[in-house]
Order: sequence, then structure tokens, then C-alpha cells
Amino acid sequence: MATERTFSIIKPDATRRNLTGAINAVIEKAGLRIVAQRRILMTQAEAKIFYAVHKERPFYGELVEMMSSAPVVVQVLEGDNAIAKYREVMGATNPANAAEGTIRKSFALSMGENSVHGSDSPDNAAAEIAQFFCGNDIVG
Ligand code: CMP
Repeated sequence: MATERTFSIIKPDATRRNLTGAINAVIEKAGLRIVAQRRILMTQAEAKIFYAVHKERPFYGELVEMMSSAPVVVQVLEGDNAIAKYREVMGATNPANAAEGTIRKSFALSMGENSVHGSDSPDNAAAEIAQFFCGNDIVG
């Protein structure tokens, strides 16, 4: 299996409830390594760029507002098959459909306030990592 990197965000609903450590524990228990991590207040401009793929969706404005409403923790995760593995660990976008033991089942509040984001493809992982980290920030 190939070692990969994926991009993760611990979202405002989770940082507000002081869940960064609890979520990181699930990530690490699943065998993923946190090789870069920074707590930031995402600007609306950054959130608009990050979620540009959703700009025609009815929830886009709400999503941009929510992502810049409180601190987020941006991360790079590394491990075997990290992209698919982290999506499994996160669970379904809608927490009502998420499997037991997943981050979203355990912590998410709703489809919008779903506690974490993870890249969905190698190309998106590379682009998302590059939006928030440069090479020297990532120490594997
Ligand atoms: P994420 O994995 O970060 O990718 C896009 C985000 O849009 C998603 O998680 C949700 O937070 C949000 N989202 C997706 N669908 C909806 C929806 N129907 N209503 C509100 N937010 C949504």
C-alpha cells in the first residue's frame, strides 16, 4: 500500500467544544500520523477559495460563514492509503448516516457542522495542502 498524505480540517463546531484532542486521538488510533498542524482563523476569502467547487450550491454562503466563524485546525495526515482511510475514519458527510466509531458519528452536530473535512482525491489533497502549508511546515 502506498504512503499518502491527505488534508484535514477540524472545523469550528469542534474547536468551540474543545474537541481537537479527542479528534486527534481518533486519527492517531486509526494509524494516521499528524505530520503538520496549525490552528488558524480562516478568512472568508480563504474559505471561498477552499470550497470554490461548491460555489453554485445553496449552502455555499452558509458554509463560508461557518468556516470563518471560529478557529479551525488545519492538518496534514500521513499513512498507508491516507486519503481513503481518513474518509473512512471521518464517516459520512451527514452524521445521521455515519457509522459507529467514526468522528462524525461521535462528534458532528449536523450536515453543515460536521466537525471535520478530509480530501476526496490525490489531486484535491495536493491542492488543499498547498493552500495552507509549504514544504518546510510538513515533517513526516
Ligand atoms: P466537507 O467534507 O467539508 O465538504 C463540503 C462541506 O459542505 C461538507 O463537508 C459539509 O460541511 C457542507 N455541506 C454539504 N452538504 C450540505 C448541506 N446540504 N447543507 C449544509 N452544508 C452542507
